[in-house]
Order: sequence, then C-alpha cells, then structure tokens
Amino acid sequence: MPKKTKLKTIAVVTPGGDAPGMNPAIRAVVRTAIFNGLKVFGIEKGWLGLIEGKIKDLELQSVGGIINRGGTILHTHRCPEFRQKDIRKKAYEKIKAYNIEGLVVIGGDGSLNASNVLIKEFQLPIINIPASIDNDIFGTDYSIGFDTAVNTAVEAIDKIRDTATSHERVFVIEVMGRNNGFIALDVGLVCGAEAIIIPEVPFNIDAIGQKLRYGQQRGKSSFIVVVAEGAARADDVAKQLQKRTKLDVRVSILGHIQRGGSPTALSREAACKLGARAVQLLLEGKKGFMVGLISDKVIETPIDEVLKKKKSIDMNAYKLANMLAS
Ligand code: F6P
Repeated sequence: MPKKTKLKTIAVVTPGGDAPGMNPAIRAVVRTAIFNGLKVFGIEKGWLGLIEGKIKDLELQSVGGIINRGGTILHTHRCPEFRQKDIRKKAYEKIKAYNIEGLVVIGGDGSLNASNVLIKEFQLPIINIPASIDNDIFGTDYSIGFDTAVNTAVEAIDKIRDTATSHERVFVIEVMGRNNGFIALDVGLVCGAEAIIIPEVPFNIDAIGQKLRYGQQRGKSSFIVVVAEGAARADDVAKQLQKRTKLDVRVSILGHIQRGGSPTALSREAACKLGARAVQLLLEGKKGFMVGLISDKVIETPIDEVLKKKKSIDMNAYKLANMLAS
C-alpha cells in the first residue's frame, strides 16, 4: 500500500549528455515515488524543457520496458542558456506553476552545477543522481553509465586488437573523457594497452615510441595506445609515433558509441539503488544532496562538497597497467 506523506509532487529531469542507465534510474525514481503516494512529472529535454514547460505526467506504465534501454526516454539537450539568471527564473516559474515540491536531477557535473545554483537562488528541494560516462564526479565510486561505456570500448578495442595483430600495426584509439582519463585508464588496463595517455599524467611521446620499438624487437605483433580525448588528439599522437617507429600506425576514434547501448548490470544496479534513495531523501525532507555508491553502499554527500572536491585518478592502476603491458 502507498504510504502517506506531506510531499505530494516531484519531477525528474535528465539534463546534459545522456548516459546508459539513465532510463533505469528514471524508472526507479518514478516507481519509488508512486509507491510512496507521490505524483511524478517527467521534464523533457533537460533544462530547456523545464524553461519551455515540456512537462508530462509519468505513471507506473510510462517506465515499463525501459530498464534495459540506453539513452533517456525524457530526451536531453545541452543548455548553455541556463547560465543566465533570467532564464533560470523562467524555469523556477514552471516549477511553481506545476506545484513541484521536489526535483530529482539525473546527470553529470554540469547538472550538479545547475542544481547548486537553483538550490541557492530559489531554495529548491533537489537531489542529484550522478550519471555520466566520464565518471569524474566526487562522492561516488562510479557514476551511472561509466561501466557500460567502459565495456563498450573494451569490446571495440578487443576487435581492433585482432586486426592490429594480423597486420602487426599500432592502433591509437581515442576514447571519451572531456577533462579526465577515467575511461581511458580502465579500458587501457583491461585491454592490455601498451600506452595510456590521460590528462592527469604528462606524457612523453619519445618514451612511448621507445617502448613500442622495444616491444617490436622482442617480437610483439600489435600495439594499442589508448588516448583520452581530453589529453591529446589521436591523429597527432599517431603522426608522432609514425615518425618515431617503423611501424604501421592507424587511428580509431570510438566517439559516441560509448554513450549508447543497453546499460550493463552494474549501471542498472546503480540506477535502481540511487533512483530509489533519491526519492526517499526527498520524502525525508532532505535537499541539496547527491546520492552515490561508495564501496557498494548508498551514501549521500552535500552537492556543495561534491562540487568543491575533485575525484582523482587511481595512480596505482595507471602504474599497474604500464607494468603489465611492458
Ligand atoms: O560528458 C560526457 C561526454 O560524453 C564527454 O566524454 C564528451 O567530451 C562530451 O560528453 C561530448 O558531448 P556532446 O555529446 O555534447 O558532443
């Protein structure tokens, strides 16, 4: 039986870049809310949809059959206009017009920044759920979508390794990660990449060239260099390696394939647990928190703190990857 609560209406929105696992998170939010007697609105197209009043009722059946689907059924939109106060005021007016008393925001660092401003300007009761393939959000071991993106990249790189080995080539593979190397590091470690280039660690192209030449002398037949997009362009790295080695070098940019596809079990599990907890926090009258998973436990961290602190790369994993692929 649904429980009685003072809170009556909440809304859910997925602004910024999509991430696989947003759909199961929406499902968890909607079903937890309805189970607890709440009315739920879905805001379409991120912050833009809120400004334009693209707000619709979500029922139990609205989120049926989406647990395994990538993307977001609510759609999304990059919305730089939201940096303007008068635009945010319009968004707030829509929140009032629909009597929305609590908002669950599913997104990455841009969404967290926007939430923080909305909380400060309008005292909105907001709870954030971290969803971004980049995994660069403090307060959670992994954000929704990261594991799926890593698995997608691994599958692609394993295939590239086959052709690299047949032709005895170097492949420079660019993965996503606007300002960080979380995807590149994980992928590089588990694909046995001979070199990993990430923004957090300065790289020396001569040393990489030397490592490849040394590997060639020892009879290695293929080489994978994983580059985070935020560290260097794969084309430039490839040109420089071509000059420094006698090897045949090719480039592959994985791009948005990493943002799509059916969410993995880990991305779905995070979505289910964090989605439910976000609604429970609103029911408890809490606001201004981000829910996250630390050592498999659901925890909440003030959004202020999440934004002030920086998640750091696991340097031991970086060293390990380099040692194992020497
Ligand atoms: O933040 C997620 C991300 O996929 C980054 O890794 C990438 O740099 C960016 O979004 C791409 O954004 P868009 O899809 O807007 O081009």
